Amino acid sequence: MIEHSNLEEYLDPVNYDLEFDGEMDKYQFYLELARSSPGEVLELACGTGLTTIPLSKAGITMTGVDISSAMLAYARLKAGGLTVTFMEGDARTFESDKRFSMIYLTGNAFQAFLSDQDQNDLLTTVHKHLQPHGIFAFETRNPEGTDLSDQEETEWGSFIDKDGKNVKVSGTQCYDASQHIMHWVTMRDSGDKRTTSRIACRFTDQATLQSLLTRHGFRVEHQYADWDKTPFSPSSSSIISVCRKC
Ligand SMILES: C[S@@+](CC[C@H](N)C(=O)[O-])C[C@H]1O[C@@H](n2cnc3c(N)ncnc32)[C@H](O)[C@@H]1O
Repeated sequence: MIEHSNLEEYLDPVNYDLEFDGEMDKYQFYLELARSSPGEVLELACGTGLTTIPLSKAGITMTGVDISSAMLAYARLKAGGLTVTFMEGDARTFESDKRFSMIYLTGNAFQAFLSDQDQNDLLTTVHKHLQPHGIFAFETRNPEGTDLSDQEETEWGSFIDKDGKNVKVSGTQCYDASQHIMHWVTMRDSGDKRTTSRIACRFTDQATLQSLLTRHGFRVEHQYADWDKTPFSPSSSSIISVCRKC
């Protein structure tokens, strides 16, 4: 049972970007995919637009949808004069008259859909809003290639925050194997301030993913281990899926 909103990680969008921006190979991956399927592209759970904005700058007609008004406000600010559209909405219930040539989720956002119902609703949204033969792409951490053991507080890394302070990032993890849900608690310590935030992420194995996608009317065309398109193997840390609406 998750009692928090599961959005605690997204309360400080400026620092979110400082911590997570810069995955150029990922932006390039989604850009190449978008170019292979000309038309309008939708990013669901787009957050601050870390990928939406580079794709828009590269000439792709982009729409980004996210449930967090704070993340979207920063996305809009960063987008400046770009023609990208940012909309507040829940990917499980999002409705638009538009039909997109490609829809994607990134930042492992697929793992935010915690129940079977959530995953079904998300995939129904995606299928409905894709043009015939449109592309659906997303990545998710691979449970087989991830250390799911319970962990006490462990150092995870650091970043320089908006005040120029070095923030040490550490955290704990606790896996609920019955629900396939990892509960992470992240601590960020800038010396004079220490914050704590929680997030729950669902893990879906490759076989389950495959049958889920097939059931929802997608054909899996490629599965990769990384943004260099290394073919997926059972020990890969990620499953990057490129699917086509049947
Ligand atoms: C890890 S962030 C990824 C953001 C962005 N895609 C990126 O790569 O930086 C996950 C995002 O999913 C959004 N989110 C979570 N549940 C959602 C839902 N049901 N519908 C739409 N957005 C959702 C959160 O607000 C957050 O911005």
